[in-house]
Amino acid sequence: YQRDNFWAVNEGLVPPFNTEPGKLEELAKEKLTESGWYYASSNAGLSHTHTANRQAFYRHRIIPRMLVDTNARDTATTFFGHKVAAPIGFAPIGINKIYHPLGELPVAKVAGELGLPYCLSTAGSQPIEDVGKAYGSSSSSGCKVFQLYMPHDDEMTVSLLKRAVEGGFEACFLTVDTWQLAWRHDDVNTSNYAFYKGIGADLGLSDPVFQKRLRERGIDVNNMTQEEKVNASAMWIDSIWHGRAWSWEKMPWLIRTWKELSGGKPICIKGIQDVRDAEKAVKTGFDGIVVSNHAGRQVDGAVASLDALERIVNAVGDKTYIMFDSGVRSASDVFKALAIGAKFVFIGRLWVWGLSIMGEHGVRHVMKSLLAEFDILLNVGGFKTVKKIDRSAIESYEKNY
Ligand code: FNR
Repeated sequence: YQRDNFWAVNEGLVPPFNTEPGKLEELAKEKLTESGWYYASSNAGLSHTHTANRQAFYRHRIIPRMLVDTNARDTATTFFGHKVAAPIGFAPIGINKIYHPLGELPVAKVAGELGLPYCLSTAGSQPIEDVGKAYGSSSSSGCKVFQLYMPHDDEMTVSLLKRAVEGGFEACFLTVDTWQLAWRHDDVNTSNYAFYKGIGADLGLSDPVFQKRLRERGIDVNNMTQEEKVNASAMWIDSIWHGRAWSWEKMPWLIRTWKELSGGKPICIKGIQDVRDAEKAVKTGFDGIVVSNHAGRQVDGAVASLDALERIVNAVGDKTYIMFDSGVRSASDVFKALAIGAKFVFIGRLWVWGLSIMGEHGVRHVMKSLLAEFDILLNVGGFKTVKKIDRSAIESYEKNY
């Protein structure tokens, strides 16, 4: 069985935790500092959108098929021309040193090893170059994606994109739903404090243009007092979560700049929920769309990401490459998003909990378990390949029941 490749149990190295979502959270909470836990677990406002994301999955049901020869099934697919092990990727998550002292490095390593796309956040706590190396080459399988939070400083944007290209990143996702962090009740007093203490800013502090900006303010990055480090980290966070919205007019510049630097590699837009915005993204020249509400962390009361996906696929599914995230907690959630029409599904909090519980082993365990669950689902559900998963494989209901 192909699933043996993914089947963590067979290695005899199963970490002592089970990957059921509720249990993962409990264990992660025990391991994390209070600020780390609140940063990861908080949603915007009253968590209505977080709840809506989950409920939308419950409103859709898979229709399994029987007596299909799935013995030679295959979870593999492609992602912008890259061969990948499954239509499952690592969503960008900032400041990974909150969860583990090595930050993004073990996460990128596991993603590379599993041959899955990995998105590095601009709010990363390790230099772009080191994360690129930890993932390894993506020429034969996998893909490294650089997620951009776009500063209001074009020279800095160019510098970040250039570093990404030189570090072997082969696609860019521009996140447009987070010019600033939304009001997240439990988080407002604690996580900014953690960031300002300087635990998470190494991606920025290692940037030559940002270092120049620091020098203009009299800070030498190679010789900082603790107080200067805190100030420098605060300056970095202010330059990526600046609170000043960009508009569509600037997008052609960004697309052109990325294309020139990368030699024509794809650039996608992450955080789209409205059909009109999806149409605009296609017209503007983005190569793909990530339908996402940032795990329900930005606009509380916003539509469920899966409902937005359905409308956006109906409108522009034949014109662009549509990806999905927000609220995925199991292989059957992945399946449902694919059946609605997403070509790729990204995972956020699940791997964050794995990283928090047990670093590299934890990330590997969670993601391998998800891959195994997906492979088994194809077998018991009667789907031989990812391509076979379409709208006929799913039914939707008006209400939860
Ligand atoms: C995020 N997300 C995010 N997105 C992004 O573009 N850049 C970032 O730095 C972050 N950081 C981040 C931190 C944490 C703690 C969370 C939970 C989320 C959003 C992320 O990429 C993705 O959209 C969601 O996490 C997907 O939802 P699930 O899988 O977490 O439910």
